[in-house]
Amino acid sequence: MLKQTLIKAAEAGAAVIQEYFEGSFEISNKEGVNNLVTEADHASEKAIFEVIKKEFPSHFILSEEAGEIVMDSTYKWIIDPIDGTVNFAHGLPLCCVSIGVENNGEMVMGAVFNPFLNEFFFAQKGYGATLNEKKISVSKETEVMKSCLVTGFPYTYLDLPNGPLEVFSRLIRKGVPVRRLGSAAMDLCWVAAGRFDGFYEHKLQAWDSAAGFLIVEEAGGKVTDFSGKRYSPYQPQIVATNSLIHDELLSWIHNHG
Ligand code: IPD
Ligand code: CA
Ligand code: CA
Repeated sequence: MLKQTLIKAAEAGAAVIQEYFEGSFEISNKEGVNNLVTEADHASEKAIFEVIKKEFPSHFILSEEAGEIVMDSTYKWIIDPIDGTVNFAHGLPLCCVSIGVENNGEMVMGAVFNPFLNEFFFAQKGYGATLNEKKISVSKETEVMKSCLVTGFPYTYLDLPNGPLEVFSRLIRKGVPVRRLGSAAMDLCWVAAGRFDGFYEHKLQAWDSAAGFLIVEEAGGKVTDFSGKRYSPYQPQIVATNSLIHDELLSWIHNHG
């Protein structure tokens, strides 16, 4: 029942964003510059909530636009109604619905659905990861120099030592291809599918990564923070790789040289 509801909820959100994509919709700004929210984000969230609340009215919900619906439950649904809102607002089909389900503090299921590419990624803890119901696994690349990486940049630039542009520049100057799709959930799923060898980002929120990080782990990858500790979606930094380049990518991130 949990799995069916998760799939139904992701499909419901995706149907809404697909409908809005072709037409016109209201766009407003959140905190920061170009941190957008559209009518479609709210409508997708509403459609997702309806599906979940029908089956599991007592579950806790954490969702980007609505915030927390606090319930005394071991289950928590972590929802991004559109991941890649800036892409969505500009008519770029690189955006998706992302929903993770946590039980007792452990991510147990995740779904990421990009209806424009018709790509539905799913994982259940201990049962592997799939793309459109076919098993997926991470790449076999062993060297960062031969890898294709992906990253993202926060809405408000982090002017820190080893901040996003410094790490990006370090890799690019050495000739390592680093892409920027604008959807962390897709970045993670594309690592899981072996398209990218690794992904890192300095500042994510739980809803950006909750589903994707389980999908990477279940596809055989490794996900940590910048210190190499197992990833928690409640802290900002993420490194997700095929596991083989993980330590090397961490040292690129920390090497100021
Ligand atoms: C954003 C995307 C982007 C990442 C940002 C996120 P949103 O989410 O995942 O790739 O770089 O940090 O905020 O705002 O499109 O849901
Ligand atoms: Ca997001
Ligand atoms: Ca979002």
